[in-house]
Amino acid sequence: MDALKNILNRVSARQLSEPYPNKEEMDIVYNAALRAPDHAWLKPSSFIEVKNEGLDKLSKIFLDFGKSCSDVSDIVLKKYQNAPYRAPMIVILVNTYKEHPKVPAIEQKLSTATAAQNIMLALNAMNYACIWRTGKLAFNKNVQKSLGLDKNQEILGYLYIGTEVGTKKKIPSLDIDDFVSYL
Ligand SMILES: Cc1cc2nc3c(=O)[nH]c(=O)nc-3n(C[C@H](O)[C@H](O)[C@H](O)COP(=O)(O)O)c2cc1C
Repeated sequence: MDALKNILNRVSARQLSEPYPNKEEMDIVYNAALRAPDHAWLKPSSFIEVKNEGLDKLSKIFLDFGKSCSDVSDIVLKKYQNAPYRAPMIVILVNTYKEHPKVPAIEQKLSTATAAQNIMLALNAMNYACIWRTGKLAFNKNVQKSLGLDKNQEILGYLYIGTEVGTKKKIPSLDIDDFVSYL
């Protein structure tokens, strides 16, 4: 796919199904992710790939988290439990903070955010679809611990990945003058 067309036409997809990328395709996706800008080459981004029985494990982690909260209704518990099954594959975006005199935490998180965009664009180029989700299950110490992450690691989101069910949503046309000014 033409590189600019790929960027201009990317949209998130809410309903995702199989097929999802195979190992060879995901190797390209992760290489794209690792080409994200990264001040001082600290390599703050890593990824946890979840599919097949991994989805069941994640479902249990989400459910256990819900149960550990005092104020969560049965409806919300079910929502947490079902969340991973909204796509056949999930990539969990992990940021690892490394102390550096010139690279504050925000820059390290921004690097992981750009890695996420590289992942989404690589997937789009291969005709797969995805959506970046966060909510209560991201930036969550309890879930992070259950996933075996250290104290300096954070979940910046979940990329739900697969093939879009139905038609691609229409991209709104925006007037760039509303967003760009000139000095
Ligand atoms: C950091 C981040 C977190 C997001 N979290 C959610 C979320 O939890 N749930 C959701 O429906 N959309 C979430 N979104 C928005 C979608 O990923 C998506 O960008 C949005 O629906 C707009 O669609 P588009 O990417 O096609 O423009 C998030 C986006 C970002 C950048």
